[in-house]
Amino acid sequence: MSLRPDFLWGFATASYQIEGAIDQDGRAPSIWDTFCAIPGKIAHGASGEVACDSYNRTAEDIALLKEVGAQAYRFSLSWSRIIPLGGRNDPVNQAGLDHYVKFVDDLLDAGITPMITLYHWDLPDELDKRYGGLLNREEFPLDFENYARVVFKAIPKCKYWITFNEPFCSSVLAYSFGQFAPGHTSDRTKSPVGDSSREPWIVGHNLLVAHGRAVKVYRDEFKPTDKGVIGITLNGDATYPWDPEDPRDVEAAERKIEFSIAWFADPVYFGKYPDSMRKQLGDRLPEFTAEEAALVKGSNDFYGMNHYTADYVKHGDGNPPPEDHAGDLTTSKTNKAGESIGPETQSFWLNPNPQGFRNLINWLSKRYGYPPIYVTENGTSIKGENDLTREQILEDDFRVKYFHDYAHALAAAVAEDGCDVRGYMGWSLMDNFEWAEGYETRFGCTYVDYEDNQKRYPKKSAYAMKPLFDSLIKKE
Ligand code: BGC
Repeated sequence: MSLRPDFLWGFATASYQIEGAIDQDGRAPSIWDTFCAIPGKIAHGASGEVACDSYNRTAEDIALLKEVGAQAYRFSLSWSRIIPLGGRNDPVNQAGLDHYVKFVDDLLDAGITPMITLYHWDLPDELDKRYGGLLNREEFPLDFENYARVVFKAIPKCKYWITFNEPFCSSVLAYSFGQFAPGHTSDRTKSPVGDSSREPWIVGHNLLVAHGRAVKVYRDEFKPTDKGVIGITLNGDATYPWDPEDPRDVEAAERKIEFSIAWFADPVYFGKYPDSMRKQLGDRLPEFTAEEAALVKGSNDFYGMNHYTADYVKHGDGNPPPEDHAGDLTTSKTNKAGESIGPETQSFWLNPNPQGFRNLINWLSKRYGYPPIYVTENGTSIKGENDLTREQILEDDFRVKYFHDYAHALAAAVAEDGCDVRGYMGWSLMDNFEWAEGYETRFGCTYVDYEDNQKRYPKKSAYAMKPLFDSLIKKE
């Protein structure tokens, strides 16, 4: 047993992926409602209109968490329920806010620790229309700061706060690939607007500044009395050189983590972007003003880690195109020796490799001075899961093994390598709206029957989590 007695484990979800109820109680559209309405953007034309209907089933979801013994629940708030138009001079929708206040009360009554993400990709649509949303360097951080303050004030009982989920995805998938809302890209066959060579870096910068602003508000106005912690959640794969004998691949494997994770984490811990990024991107990567740098540097009480998979990395030719976001390299799931990085899943990007998890926890810990880490997402889809019968889906041994192996890799990083990991949230509590893939890809530890009133059936993996963490956490 190697994990601290107060190690917090549970499950994670996100508002747009589970809530449904898109026009209930005064909620206004988010950019995802708008994006889903564009034909061809989401598999089978799906959307979050109903999703798991969690907005109307909070009691059921809490009962589910209790049933599987979860200690904690990470969920996100829908900004456009709370401030429908989003901005700092727009009205607060009390009904939307009250919903979350009550949800937190109910979780606490059930003995479950809430962990709140303020932003999991569902920007109020009005802010995108009004001033370009995440692209606006002046307005966006101020509006986010205001939204954060409204929430901190209303929910003092929450002690774990995450400002942004995966700014990498909000930047690259939404402003380079055009695959996520609002769908910008330089590829004119996909979108009439966008500049993949510049917009992702601008968006990333603005998200960092908005994060810094919200953290300052929390620390100045709430933390002294509420005594919670706040941080940002970053995603990134572990990497291995495609050819471990080639120093250029070794360097590229390092650079891939810099372009995905250190892009955000270096400013948060050091107040500047990685040198490798400045070198490749030049002035397309914004410069921090002195005021911005001061807001961002030192703005994490903990490091929020989302992690799923690993890649082999091969160096590029030294001439990356302007739309390159990865750091002049290519990735693959097999290496030079023909070895596969891990078994296939339903997600083309995801091949389990638990050793990579341990390596990456070490990489982060070394670079950032062994900060407290909360793993805020980790999980897997299963190849062909959606084609099986319910009975078969409930026997999700592949996912059980994934959680087992990843939790043991985490425990080794703590016990043998001295890393400071304090929590773990499995993705996801239940099957849900998997963004551009709609409902085809299931990440849940609970099966949701979309054909039958979104009924929930815990899979084997949901029940496996408690014994798994009981076996790893030291008793007081
Ligand atoms: C996101 C989740 C998503 C999961 C699986 C993470 O990148 O935060 O919203 O469902 O990966 O793709």
